[in-house]
Amino acid sequence: MKFDSPAGTNPIDQQKVVGRAHSRIDGPLKTTGTAPYAYEFHREVADAAYGYVVGSAVAKGRIRAMNLRDAKAAPGVIAIVTAADAGKLGKGNYNTAKLLGGPEVDHYHQAVALVVAETFEQARAAAALVRVDYDRRAGRFDLDEGLKTAPLTGGNSGEGSESPPEHRVGKFEEAFAAAPVKLDALYTTPDHSHAMMEPFASIAAWNGDELTLWTSNQMIDWGRSDLAKTLGMPKEKIHFLSPYVGGGFGGKLFLRTDAVLAALGARAAKRPVKLALQRPLIANNTTHRPATRQRIRIGTTPDGTITAIAHESGSGDLPGGGPETAVNQTELLYAGANRLTSLRLAVLDLPEGNAMRAPGEAPGMMALEIAIDEMAEKLGMDPIAFRVKNDTQVDPKTPTRRFSQRNLVRCLEEGAGRFGWSRRQAKPAQVRDGRWLVGMGVAAAFRNHLALPSGARVRLGRDGVVTVETDMTDIGTGSYTIIAQTAAEMMGVPIEQVAVKLGDSSFPISAGSGGQFGAASATSGVYAACVKLREAVAQRLGFNSADAQFTGGKVTSGNRSATLAQAAAAGELVAEDKMEWGDLGKQMQQSTFGAHFVEVGVDAYTGVTRVRRMLAVCAAGRILNPVTARSQMIGAMTMGVGGALMEALEVDKRFGFFVNHDLAGYEVPVHADIPHQEVIFLDEADPTANPLKAKGVGELGLCGVGAAVANAIYNATGVRVRDYPITLDKHL
Ligand code: MOS
Repeated sequence: MKFDSPAGTNPIDQQKVVGRAHSRIDGPLKTTGTAPYAYEFHREVADAAYGYVVGSAVAKGRIRAMNLRDAKAAPGVIAIVTAADAGKLGKGNYNTAKLLGGPEVDHYHQAVALVVAETFEQARAAAALVRVDYDRRAGRFDLDEGLKTAPLTGGNSGEGSESPPEHRVGKFEEAFAAAPVKLDALYTTPDHSHAMMEPFASIAAWNGDELTLWTSNQMIDWGRSDLAKTLGMPKEKIHFLSPYVGGGFGGKLFLRTDAVLAALGARAAKRPVKLALQRPLIANNTTHRPATRQRIRIGTTPDGTITAIAHESGSGDLPGGGPETAVNQTELLYAGANRLTSLRLAVLDLPEGNAMRAPGEAPGMMALEIAIDEMAEKLGMDPIAFRVKNDTQVDPKTPTRRFSQRNLVRCLEEGAGRFGWSRRQAKPAQVRDGRWLVGMGVAAAFRNHLALPSGARVRLGRDGVVTVETDMTDIGTGSYTIIAQTAAEMMGVPIEQVAVKLGDSSFPISAGSGGQFGAASATSGVYAACVKLREAVAQRLGFNSADAQFTGGKVTSGNRSATLAQAAAAGELVAEDKMEWGDLGKQMQQSTFGAHFVEVGVDAYTGVTRVRRMLAVCAAGRILNPVTARSQMIGAMTMGVGGALMEALEVDKRFGFFVNHDLAGYEVPVHADIPHQEVIFLDEADPTANPLKAKGVGELGLCGVGAAVANAIYNATGVRVRDYPITLDKHL
């Protein structure tokens, strides 16, 4: 099915199941520990040996020699795989650095060997006996140094949206020079780690020339295709499974070392191999959100009309990598006739930078929304009023393109009322609660809506059960549940009568989970397959499919009626289809909007910041399930607090690696850091987005939060910090 004109009324609009609160149907499996994760397919693979990855001890250089004698002689060792004996490996589309290094080393903790042994402990002990003689060379590890000569470079955010090296509208420099009120400031964001709970893990089992891989991955077909390319085999010979994923945040969009080395290890050991990247390897072996340096200039008239806006971002990556596209939102969020956005990319020899939740917009909004707050203050305007004044219903760089729906102003105004914004003191450092300096901050939320083609198969069994099969993943987001709701609505059955099977490459290729496109794209694929299944049911019964109603477990046409089980009595009915996207989304700008409100207390004596209250108001099309959507929001808001106050991979610029490479050193918020969070969804439906009329919230919830916290700290203390994370040393 091709979606190329706005959706009319369709069965989803009944909203008997879709749009209703429903707890996650995979919840009991998760909370009882019975949902199998990548490392836990014990029943399927009883005789697996254990792999342990040796990461490079240098960031840049060449392996002169490897001495494996002691490791090979260690108890329990079955095989050792290195680049020297792994055969020729190809490169996938999505990874920048090689997933098995040697003799050249591209970055610290790049895998250089895999030890396979009978037990995990034996593999680990033997790995410590692998002797590597490195010829260490100087590397480029300093982003600020690299950006001095870095060229303008466009790129892809990692999940589909392209950004040009530079984009100009009007005459920015002249308009900025002439503007009576101006801001010119530099904002920095550090490298971030996905720090998901479930590590990268895989079990590989060969059967002749066929490979089965249980892994933890957000994008089944991307992973399977890249594994096939890397191993030089047809992808049809790989069965790639990832039914449950314990968090990904973009780190698991792509094939990583664990999958490739499990496959190579299993081939060498001639038996299945399981391996999980040990936690200290994850920060430097896999990917991270790259650090940014963002210069923002805004010029306005005295009444607060933006006449010039520029956002220039610099980041770094390995040779062949791409920039963090942190200026995306600045092309679209505020009006202004003269505009400049640009990206610079420094070549660094640090580990590979790549997509992390809301790549581009997340760090971009951390900077832009402080700049907007600063500008409002210069103008003596309320920061909400300043945003409202510069709202636009058209794409500011292409005024003939309208936003399909843009309710940013309603989000800000509704939030202001709910949050008690009128009680905020415009002048900072005025409110005291005991030892706490108290402040409020606001930021807009913005994230583009992306859509990827998505396929599904639906079966109607003789028992009347509807089974959905798609390679869509559930990364903790609720995919199982919203897909069940979609099929239940379409087929007119209660959600209990739907079974959902995900994360298996033998199912139709879906959008996968990423870029907040997963929910809307995957349910659209299920919708398309259900439209076909409804036709098949009507045809089997001899009903007119145009007027057949599916409700209450029955299909009715005119005065005839049958249960779904009766329809399938003569044999299971199966339908498959794929939602594909026409250019409707190119004719107009489809984005999601919101407003984040935060109240903080800053200890007047110690400088410790505590978040006291958070509120998000979102406008993101139809909300498919307010429970799972709210969970996405509060998870994202929590991640935003992490980015604002604590998260940073610290770079050792001498040796070129991230020092705090574990969950003790890389701090993320815990429950005690997070207060009550409130989330409000505006009652919207965007018929130009898809038949579900839904967009996504998983990344919207993050975009802007950091700046709202930063702005609240400024309001509390009067100290403006432009460098994240805002640790107490920066505002004491
Ligand atoms: Mo998201 S960074 O596209 O998983």
